[in-house]
Amino acid sequence: MSIQQRTALITGASAGIGATFARFLAAQGYDLLLVARRVERLNDLATELKQQYGIQTYVFAADLTDKQAPSAIMAFAKERGVVIDMLINNAGLSGKTAFADTPWQELANEIQLMITAVTELAHRVIPDMKQQGWGRIINLSSLAAFSPPGASLLYTGIKSYVLNISESLDMELKPHGIHVTALCPGFTHSEFHDVMGTRDAANHLPAILWQQPEAVVKEGYEAVMKGKPVCVPGIVNKVIASSMRPIPESARYFLGKTFNPFKN
Ligand SMILES: NC(=O)c1ccc[n+]([C@@H]2O[C@H](COP(=O)([O-])OP(=O)(O)OC[C@H]3O[C@@H](n4cnc5c(N)ncnc54)[C@H](OP(=O)(O)O)[C@@H]3O)[C@@H](O)[C@H]2O)c1
Repeated sequence: MSIQQRTALITGASAGIGATFARFLAAQGYDLLLVARRVERLNDLATELKQQYGIQTYVFAADLTDKQAPSAIMAFAKERGVVIDMLINNAGLSGKTAFADTPWQELANEIQLMITAVTELAHRVIPDMKQQGWGRIINLSSLAAFSPPGASLLYTGIKSYVLNISESLDMELKPHGIHVTALCPGFTHSEFHDVMGTRDAANHLPAILWQQPEAVVKEGYEAVMKGKPVCVPGIVNKVIASSMRPIPESARYFLGKTFNPFKN
């Protein structure tokens, strides 16, 4: 199968890293199935990429906190005869308030969006990938998976799960021609901090800590094509990740407690 005939499903394609993945993969010749809640943005992006690269684009509006969303996305693809060759499990956000002060439904939505939907979508695309003997899955984890835990946020735990499950799936599926990569960016220019309400604090962080989404996407794509199960993009993030792992758990706890720029 030529690269032009492959289709990538990208969740959270209406902004930031997901929209950047859409542009990057369109330039490589992939057809795209774009998913997010803000459908006007997806339609604009789909039209632009179709015109620019002559690819086939599909748009599906979905709120991935809805338990039915993964099966609805796959039904939409099946009705159109679209087989997913590449999955970019990207949609995500960070909670804003302390665990005990956050209504359970909001926490449950975070888990549904970034754990259950991520896992279910992978589970649903794998059978076709196995049958074809080719598939690529990128799950958006975070440098937070390596960093000390953040007080009261589910985010660190969620992204640690994504890192761990990606490595497990890669081990299981590589013999079937399927590569799975946990992409673990550090601070990346996107709408993430606007949504989280931490834009002011984020703007005060040193420029050296930030990456453009284009660099993150390129490194993530190259990693999954090479079969690397974990990708920490950028030199600075690599140094941070590797310096965090050998630290004893008690020291990681202390660091997380002491240096949290987004403390609420
Ligand atoms: N930016 C960073 O510094 C950074 C660092 C490490 C990891 N990450 C991870 O990278 C991924 C992308 O984040 P980003 O930085 O690109 O953030 P972003 O610019 O805020 O984009 C987030 C995307 O997720 C989608 N999304 C959020 N909630 C959704 C829902 N309930 N249903 C469907 N789609 C939903 C949004 O689309 P709609 O609002 O239109 O639904 C949007 O397209 C996330 O998983 C994030 O945790 C980001």
